[in-house]
Amino acid sequence: MALRPYIVGNWKMNGTRAMLSEARAIDRSAQRLMKVEVALAPPFTLIHAVHREAEQIGIGAQDCHAKADGAFTGDVSAAMVADAGAKFVILGHSERREGHGETDADVQAKAAAALDAGLKLIVCCGETLATREAGGAVAHVTAQLEGSLPDTIDNAGERLAVAYEPIWAIGTGRTATVEDVAEMHRAIRALLIARYGEEEGSLVRILYGGSVKPDNARELLSTDEVGGALVGGASLTAESFLGIVMAAVDMQDA
Ligand code: PGA
Repeated sequence: MALRPYIVGNWKMNGTRAMLSEARAIDRSAQRLMKVEVALAPPFTLIHAVHREAEQIGIGAQDCHAKADGAFTGDVSAAMVADAGAKFVILGHSERREGHGETDADVQAKAAAALDAGLKLIVCCGETLATREAGGAVAHVTAQLEGSLPDTIDNAGERLAVAYEPIWAIGTGRTATVEDVAEMHRAIRALLIARYGEEEGSLVRILYGGSVKPDNARELLSTDEVGGALVGGASLTAESFLGIVMAAVDMQDA
């Protein structure tokens, strides 16, 4: 695990103002847990409100448009989410790729727009169960990242994180084996070093996502090359999310 693990909650299309109390509770605990970097990506509608509540945790968006502004009804630009208080954006989540037809090139264009707006990136990748069972998971994921990541990023180690999320593990209660996660993360690390150089490529945090819960977080976070977690369902309450954060804290102390 990286020196300072990065635990990110992805609220997906969940949350109204009634959930601000959860964000507040997460933030208050994170203030005492400086060994772990904690962040939340609420829906667009809550970014500003969570930003106002939060003193410690990072706030991000779950997507942005590739254009800075214009006639794109229903879309939200990187500059807009930055203006609302977001410091990072999750891009290329499989629910965007599958549900909205986002291609690698779309993700790469959005990443460029986000960097222009001063945002950090969490770029997601992952394979279907059919691809894994056919033995093509590593080739698929590395090709996906080749097409989705920006060619160059100033301070890539600081501004980029990659989240490996096997699609069949998202929201299903199934997780990849630690051996499979370690193999994939090593392949992603090699790609990052080839792309951004030894120094910066070594610093990029590679997160695991897909049914991370308090009771499996320790095992996943102790896996070779896992620098944190991208958490969906278990990030919706402070209690379960903080259970994952505490697993990361305990491992720093161990
Ligand atoms: P999950 O979602 O933790 O609910 O599986 C993870 C994600 O999609 O980021």
